[in-house]
Amino acid sequence: MSIILSLETSCDESAAALVSREKGKIDLIGSEIASQIEEHANWGGVVPEIASRRHLENLPFLIEEVFAKSKLQLKDIDAVAATVTPGLTGSLLIGSITARTLASLHHIPFLGIHHLEGHLSSIYLSENHPKPPFLVLLVSGGHTELIKVDIHHKYYRLGRSHDDAAGEAFDKVARLLGLPYPGGPAIQKIAKFGDPKKFLFPKGRVSKPEGGFYPYDFSFSGLKTAVFRQIEKIRLEKQELPIADIAASFEYVVAKVLVERSFRCALDHGLNSLVLVGGVAANLRLREMMLEKASENSIKIALAPMEFCTDNAAMIGAAALLRLSSNYVQSSMELGVSARWPLEKTDLLYDSNPPF
Ligand code: KG4
Ligand code: ZN
Repeated sequence: MSIILSLETSCDESAAALVSREKGKIDLIGSEIASQIEEHANWGGVVPEIASRRHLENLPFLIEEVFAKSKLQLKDIDAVAATVTPGLTGSLLIGSITARTLASLHHIPFLGIHHLEGHLSSIYLSENHPKPPFLVLLVSGGHTELIKVDIHHKYYRLGRSHDDAAGEAFDKVARLLGLPYPGGPAIQKIAKFGDPKKFLFPKGRVSKPEGGFYPYDFSFSGLKTAVFRQIEKIRLEKQELPIADIAASFEYVVAKVLVERSFRCALDHGLNSLVLVGGVAANLRLREMMLEKASENSIKIALAPMEFCTDNAAMIGAAALLRLSSNYVQSSMELGVSARWPLEKTDLLYDSNPPF
């Protein structure tokens, strides 16, 4: 059995987890998260300087807590992992330096993990996960991507957003409606009381220069503008703002477009498993519509467990255990952090000559 200590500090959640792998099965031993969301909510978004300070303060306590609750000690650990890209560099450094320090003190391997590989790996924390190849819809605050996952950690991006990520659209529309940050949970809460068919907001398509549309790509900025115009119109007419109806109609069209293009992409590429991960994957309407569509098709759907949709360290541990068991074993202690790095080039994080 391998046990890994994993750290996540790429944005506004500080997290530590202990994850094990035995006979190919990944199990969570313990997971601790300290969210900074309330503090950043005062500013309407993440303040990088505050985020790094809080990671520095929180991380030692989270590590202590996860060990104490699981009754394990550092000597029981086979490797230490931390998110090294993409994210806020000051924040990434806190997790990465902590992980490298622990790894060198205890003479165990260090693994730098790509945050998106972490999100993709959250599916391995669910009971019935598919085996590659499969298609993943990764929807978070920073990304909206359709990724084909093949064996040996090979990734092919088949679709993406050309402007806002789906989570970003939730956050921006929530702001327009006067709802708190983060917008996704706030919109979901109020949308329950609204009519999803009340307003017909646009689905947002991306034109090809030669004519037609990219079938698996997304655009959410026009949708955000449409919501803004609708709100302005209602205000000019001096009517009360139907917040629940607007939230429900917005949530519905986002879910619909994500479901339609994901299934089209899976069917066109002959992939019969579709996986949903990332912060927006916690959205109940999206989960429900995914399952509904799957029942009309031959495609099997796997949803990331709710608690591992938004940022957490358990998914980073799952990704690290899969890497540990493959040929790419560990990262160089020279590996630093990077605000951006393509998922397709994640193998290079395990090169003796690191790319950053
Ligand atoms: O994966 P995540 O925690 O961080 C990134 O890596 O970006 O995703 C955060 C995003 C935020 O934009 C938040 O509004 C959205 O996920 N989100 C949701 C829900 N819960 C979180 N969006 C829709 N419905 C939800 N229930
Ligand atoms: Zn994330």
